[in-house]
Amino acid sequence: MDTPLATDLAGIRLRNPVLLAAGTAGTLDEMADVLDLSRVGAVVTKSITPEPRAGNPPMRVAPVKAGMLNAVGLANVGIEHFIEYVAPRIAATPTTVIGSAAGFSIDDYVRIAAEFDEIEAMPAVELNVSCPNVSHGVEFGADPTLLADLVRAVRAVLTHTRLIVKLPPVSVGTPHTIVDLARAAIEPGGAPAGPNSRPGADALTLCNTTPGMAINVRTRRPLLGNTTGGLSGPAVHNIVVRLVHLTHTAIARDTGTPIIGAGGVMRWDDAAELILAGASAVQVGTALFADPAAPVRVARGLEKWVRTQDAGSLADLVGAVAL
Ligand SMILES: Cc1cc2nc3c(=O)[nH]c(=O)nc-3n(C[C@H](O)[C@H](O)[C@H](O)COP(=O)(O)O)c2cc1C
Repeated sequence: MDTPLATDLAGIRLRNPVLLAAGTAGTLDEMADVLDLSRVGAVVTKSITPEPRAGNPPMRVAPVKAGMLNAVGLANVGIEHFIEYVAPRIAATPTTVIGSAAGFSIDDYVRIAAEFDEIEAMPAVELNVSCPNVSHGVEFGADPTLLADLVRAVRAVLTHTRLIVKLPPVSVGTPHTIVDLARAAIEPGGAPAGPNSRPGADALTLCNTTPGMAINVRTRRPLLGNTTGGLSGPAVHNIVVRLVHLTHTAIARDTGTPIIGAGGVMRWDDAAELILAGASAVQVGTALFADPAAPVRVARGLEKWVRTQDAGSLADLVGAVAL
């Protein structure tokens, strides 16, 4: 695995830094029919909750001018089904598998994380914190105090599994900035714990979708059955480049916390931009809907780029934007 793209993500060795984003590639390996999974760095599972969820009414996905809107509503098989039918297939999946956990209370996340931690073949859990906490009505990823409580609780049940926290795209700092949230995830307080003896996240994913809405002006109805949804694709790319840059320079670089950039990676140069801003890896989501082979092309393009930049490896280019 000593190629220029071999990536060490918080101690997890990945073939390359191009990952499939949570919720865009099925529960586990459904993309395998149209994409050679051995050519991506990892697949992130659909976000799993304690109970199975049917999700929102249709339409749940709508193409828009600069990307797509989705309001899938966390439709997923639930943790019991996942453990019985999906987990046994992870070891044979030809790439690294990262489990995505979601919930509506700290106990929900702790339960999923503890179950994931039993799966030896799964080296990391990614917390999708863009979910409302039922007891406060506020998203876990919107409040640093709540986020820190969540991260501490999950960290305490992980024995071998690395902890990745996926933040929402907080682009205007009222009342909290992305750096406040990143700090809460990386340094939530409490004693160091887990495989890396860190008090909080081993890595961050930036970012989840950004809230949006689209209306059919003839019928005057929203395009999504849920009225609003999450915007992804090219529309969010430059927002995420900035958030990765801010987070890398303000806290991630100094604490040695890798960032996984997610937002509008359609081509290799989008991924390269995120790397220069401070990401150590990227996720591809929306692009898969247009071209399932996009991640393979992104990886190939990155490899060529590393050579043209006279860098020994992609890691040498992380955060290397010339300011
Ligand atoms: C249809 C769809 C479903 C998604 N489901 C999830 C999910 O279950 N959990 C999650 O953390 N993110 C989910 N996301 C967000 C993506 O993982 C990713 O963070 C976001 O789309 C930005 O990347 P992109 O612009 O490459 O799509 C979903 C995105 C889409 C488009």
